[in-house]
Amino acid sequence: MQMSPRAEGETGSTPAVLLGPSCVLGIDVGTTSVKTGLVSKTEHGPAVTQSCTKETRAQVENAPAGLLQVRLPAGVRVAVELAATGVPPPCRWRGQCQVPERRVTPPPRHPDSALQPHGPGCQWTERGTRPTFEPAEVSHLITWQDGHCSSDLLALLLPPRSHLSVATGFGCATIYWYMENSPGFLKPYNAAGTIQDYVVAMLCGQVRPRMSVHNAASWGYFNTTSKSWNADILEESGFPTHLLPEVVEPRELAGETCRRWHWIPEGAGVGAALGNFQCSVYSCMPESTDAVLNIGTSAQLSVPMPLGFEPSDSPDPLSPVACFPYFTSRYLAVAALLNGGNVLATFVGVLARWMAELGLEVSEAVFYPRMIRAALSQADTNLAICPTLFGERHTPERLASVTGIGASELSLSHVTRALCRGLVQNLHSMLATGRLEEAGVTRILASGSALTRNEVLRQEVEKVYPFPVVYGKDVDAAVGAALVLLNRK
Ligand SMILES: *[C@@H]1O[C@H](CO)[C@@H](O)[C@H](O)[C@H]1NC(C)=O
Repeated sequence: MQMSPRAEGETGSTPAVLLGPSCVLGIDVGTTSVKTGLVSKTEHGPAVTQSCTKETRAQVENAPAGLLQVRLPAGVRVAVELAATGVPPPCRWRGQCQVPERRVTPPPRHPDSALQPHGPGCQWTERGTRPTFEPAEVSHLITWQDGHCSSDLLALLLPPRSHLSVATGFGCATIYWYMENSPGFLKPYNAAGTIQDYVVAMLCGQVRPRMSVHNAASWGYFNTTSKSWNADILEESGFPTHLLPEVVEPRELAGETCRRWHWIPEGAGVGAALGNFQCSVYSCMPESTDAVLNIGTSAQLSVPMPLGFEPSDSPDPLSPVACFPYFTSRYLAVAALLNGGNVLATFVGVLARWMAELGLEVSEAVFYPRMIRAALSQADTNLAICPTLFGERHTPERLASVTGIGASELSLSHVTRALCRGLVQNLHSMLATGRLEEAGVTRILASGSALTRNEVLRQEVEKVYPFPVVYGKDVDAAVGAALVLLNRK
């Protein structure tokens, strides 16, 4: 079975629209879908009053140049529009409270890039009685999954002065690729940004987008401490630095809506687009001493680093933990695992196929709960499973293995217990208790479909980490983005 955990949760980063002092609309703009979350202040704290998801139906294609492109921003524009209008105006949702769908936190990834031409990059039209914007003279979108900036080209680039490395799919790498392969292509454009920065610029009627520190960090050649581009290095290599957007703090407003847009009034504050991962973590409202664990298809454990923490001066590709800028100059240390619920799903799928080959049709829905029940009765085992079927980013060649196979420990209960333990031990090997303690962690907030469905996995988390674990904190990037602005001083 071929699985691509990197392609999971194909969402982008997240702008938010501030409607008033007590109500914010978060918009999670992704390549495949756009989600919104409307959050309002109530006497019991913030409440998610509406959420909505729309597919972009954006066509992904391999353009002649060979870059992985998406026919955007038209598709995104339509989805943003539909998702925003799918949420009724605030006056109608009084008294209603809709809990957002539980969502998997996507692995940290790099936002997509689009180029903006000279001029405003869109046209506002009155469609019926409603103003709406249509993209004009904007390039296609090159997604973060683009793989064409080869290691040969990357090796020719000057090393960035940043703790984060540059890889294919990063905004700066994409521009280098064009410089090398199709230099005329860049000429007509005067600005570049992520698709989410574009949406914000259009809502605000800005000619040039403003980019948050979150997104700039994942474009490459950006120093997250000084919060500035590595302009000297880029200029030395002839990089068109005039394309790079102005960078703003993660809580800053990028501007104000330039027109009434559906039920959103003219002059509503619009936050700069934020990192999707940071917003997902923020959405479960962690205290500064909470680590946030999500085990869905893949798994992530993030730890807020104490104020004053500075990342190393150069990237370390062998480190299992990456540091991303979070809020108020703090960093999140993140172990982003490629092996999570997908490993359990593979195991269950293999069992079902073996049974089918033996002529027994048993549905997974029936035997999965039985398998978990069996493992619950098996508190311990000497069987040791290293579960890294999909490799990990820092050790892609280390695949799964089973050791300590004794004749008396071959039951399904032993294997299931060992598999769940192996998954949590793999997590612990990347971000161990000691590092959590050093960062001042006193509690783990846990969520994700794999944990919800699997008590054995929950037991193993509680065994391996000596902190209280609180379950059921929802993660939702659109809601997180809205909360960021709602909690703005
Ligand atoms: C980023 O900038 C800060 C402040 O100017 C500097 O101290 C630090 O060394 C820079 N980081 C890197 C990786 O060069």
